[in-house]
Amino acid sequence: MDSFFSEQAGEWFCEAVPLASIAERFGTPTYVYSQAAILGQFRRLQGALEGVAALICYSVKANSNLRILRLLRDAGAGFDIVSAGELARLERIGADPRQVVFSGVGKTAAEIDAALAAGILMFNVESAEELGLIEARACHLDRLAGISLRINPDVEAATHPYIATGRAIHKFGVPPEEALALYRRAAASPLLRLRGLACHIGSQILQVDPFARALDEMLELAGRLRAEGLELDYLDLGGGYGIRYRREEPFDFARLAAHLRRRLEGSRYRLIVEPGRALVGEAGVLLARVLYVKRNPAKRFIVVDAGMSDLLRPALYGSQHEVVPVRRRAGPAHRADVVGPICETADFLAQDRELPELAGGDLVAILTAGAYGYSLASNYNSRPRPAEVLVDGRTARPIRRRETVEDLLATEGDQIGGDAPR
Ligand code: LLP
Repeated sequence: MDSFFSEQAGEWFCEAVPLASIAERFGTPTYVYSQAAILGQFRRLQGALEGVAALICYSVKANSNLRILRLLRDAGAGFDIVSAGELARLERIGADPRQVVFSGVGKTAAEIDAALAAGILMFNVESAEELGLIEARACHLDRLAGISLRINPDVEAATHPYIATGRAIHKFGVPPEEALALYRRAAASPLLRLRGLACHIGSQILQVDPFARALDEMLELAGRLRAEGLELDYLDLGGGYGIRYRREEPFDFARLAAHLRRRLEGSRYRLIVEPGRALVGEAGVLLARVLYVKRNPAKRFIVVDAGMSDLLRPALYGSQHEVVPVRRRAGPAHRADVVGPICETADFLAQDRELPELAGGDLVAILTAGAYGYSLASNYNSRPRPAEVLVDGRTARPIRRRETVEDLLATEGDQIGGDAPR
């Protein structure tokens, strides 16, 4: 992705806005996103897929801010959701429900009802029991349910074990052998409409081959279904395209698209892809302020006002985000850990990094934090979650106010009513 975050004469910018000015206006910690970066990446993927009948369903979980969802909807995206909460976000922005797919192994009856009432394109069904529940709810509400089966293609992809999903040992999807029987069952139901086949093999995958193998496996199964007279319209390849955090070679959309074009040419299938990280990951940074520089005989720690409650990825996956000083100051570089204020040893944003001189009061930007940053944030240690700001050229607009401690306390206590303890 072209860099919409850059250092100019020792000072970091998002597009044409100095990050320091955003910290002045909105405080820290704050997530800052570049609108041009998000749209640029969406168009790049769209461009690569030209000639393939494809629907890009942005995976809402990566970053579900309403303003960002609206931006992507206006650019022509559909959406991949995993909860009634995410569906409610799409209803709020007026997204077209016929471009929404609903994934996830644990859909509740209430969530299925909400999605049926909204009229989504399809449920990506993950088990025989779920198929039964969707049929029962469709009957109850007198609605047709579009379904596809999420198959688990047993494809190995090199990524962190917590975000690999496509092997037989994972909870996701159904084995291809079982899919045939489930499709026969679904085809016999007047309430279920067979729409497609789906898979999602994992996240932050940098090679094209695992996706090519997953598509081939889906085509093979679709062919077998066809031979039985079971016609499908959609092949949903899931998301998972990797991005550059530090030294990774970015995912090659053009190579993937070339394979898709070759394999889908002349076929009747429409392709769905569900990218999350690839659209927003490089488009965001987390802005934080240095509180203290602390040394002990073994180490040097840069203590900042953002922690694992704001950006969980380093603690959870050992993920590597670059940390840069927003304004470079004179002085020697040091090896240091960048840590947060939370009472956990895992509360680090970077470990053992060679960093330029930093002092209390300085600002740092933690890069490539646009995906699974805010959306994984929590209130651990009773910390209000950060603000979010969207930059468009010379303009920085708040798109989420910082939470307050009052927000946190509002859902608790003796005055809540109902059956809360007195
Ligand atoms: N579709 C399905 C069914 C998914 O489960 C996911 C992500 C996606 C699409 C989007 O994947 P993406 O294109 O963003 O890789 N919290 C982790 C990532 C978890 C991904 C979960 N599923 C992280 O911060 O790396």
